Amino acid sequence: MIKLDLSHAKLEQQPEAWQEQVDKYNTELVNGTCKGNDYIGWMTWFEDYDKEEFARIKETAKKIQENSDVLVVCGIGGSYLGPRAAIEMINGLYPENQKVEVIYTGNTFSSTYINQVMDYIKDKRVTVNVISKSGTTTETAIAFRILEQFMWDKYKDEAKDRIVATTDKARGTLKALADKKGYETFVIPDNIGGRFSVITPVGLLPIAVAGISIDDLMKGLADGMKEYGSASISENPAYAYAVTRRILQNQGYDVEMFVDYEPQMQKVAEWWKQLFGESEGKDGLGILPDSAVFSTDLHSLGQFIQDGKKVLFETNLYVDQPAIDIPFPADEQNLDNMNYLAGKSIDWVNKMAAKGTLEAHEITGGVPNIVLTMPGMTAYDFGNMCAFFFKAIAMTTLLNGSNPFNQPGVEVYKKNMFRLLGKE
Ligand code: PA5
Repeated sequence: MIKLDLSHAKLEQQPEAWQEQVDKYNTELVNGTCKGNDYIGWMTWFEDYDKEEFARIKETAKKIQENSDVLVVCGIGGSYLGPRAAIEMINGLYPENQKVEVIYTGNTFSSTYINQVMDYIKDKRVTVNVISKSGTTTETAIAFRILEQFMWDKYKDEAKDRIVATTDKARGTLKALADKKGYETFVIPDNIGGRFSVITPVGLLPIAVAGISIDDLMKGLADGMKEYGSASISENPAYAYAVTRRILQNQGYDVEMFVDYEPQMQKVAEWWKQLFGESEGKDGLGILPDSAVFSTDLHSLGQFIQDGKKVLFETNLYVDQPAIDIPFPADEQNLDNMNYLAGKSIDWVNKMAAKGTLEAHEITGGVPNIVLTMPGMTAYDFGNMCAFFFKAIAMTTLLNGSNPFNQPGVEVYKKNMFRLLGKE
């Protein structure tokens, strides 16, 4: 379970003062009458997900592990960030025991990047997982056409067994194409939006291919949905966090910096930015989500946070137990004068850095800090964290009076781009 510490948040109002509003929106969320209620399938997914499909995901993952060196995930936004966040958080950035390397494309128009991916995979054993709910996203469609031609050239008829499509159950170009070519398909449920979809086949297949237990992930999700299920702000840390964000914005803070101390959680921050930015950034409202990995970024952004304009608050996501800890070695000569740390664990140093930073930013810098602590970086922890942030963003956006589950603003650039590209 994620623990919440608000003792560094500099709140001018107690979160419990918002209980009445939280009760109202919680009832709407639970009864399915809130704004955007077509997209609250994630609320009950932990119990009503398709068990037959879940078993098929495991079988497909096993087959890919046996016949592939690389899984190319081709998708963008909600069809990309979740699986990458989970795989990197759980397995690390240089995973030794992961049988199949997972790489990503379909998330950019960069010709250089697309070509580099194609070069990288050309002599490897490849499976492609194209992921798109709409089935028409241009970044994904461009990369997929190139990948698909490569796969048919390389594997001939076997290509159809090495391409898997995760998409809508019936609608869209990708579903029609996959059925016609005989590709295996997995379903993105109608009532779960892209940024909530890591808990569906969108995330589950690549995560399982990476050798991660999707049973553990779903257990963490199920437990989280119960642990963060209370309407009471004092009992539900996800709702307390949701309300705290509203209070801090009322105090004048329009930027939230998501901070963690583990480089392998950088993509979790990217996933969180989509979840929070697309859910809340509308109707001229919302807190701008930003992120940093400390201590790395203390050497770049630290100065601004400490002494710059007071526009932001920090939300720290600490990890109690690192995946691996190592001792710092003694050195007889001690020419670097580092022996004062000999025998200490490096994670202890990381935690002392976090403590010192919190004090510097909060007390000397006057920056409000929310502290979240998760137990570890396991599949279970990832599932549990999804429940926490899903519940939090739904509530905090409803408290703004907005619909947490649409993203009308994302369409504007596409319209302009299609005009410039001459799309009919
Ligand atoms: O949140 C969203 O809906 C978007 O960011 C999508 O995730 C992104 O555009 C990918 O869409 P699709 O899965 O339809 O290709």
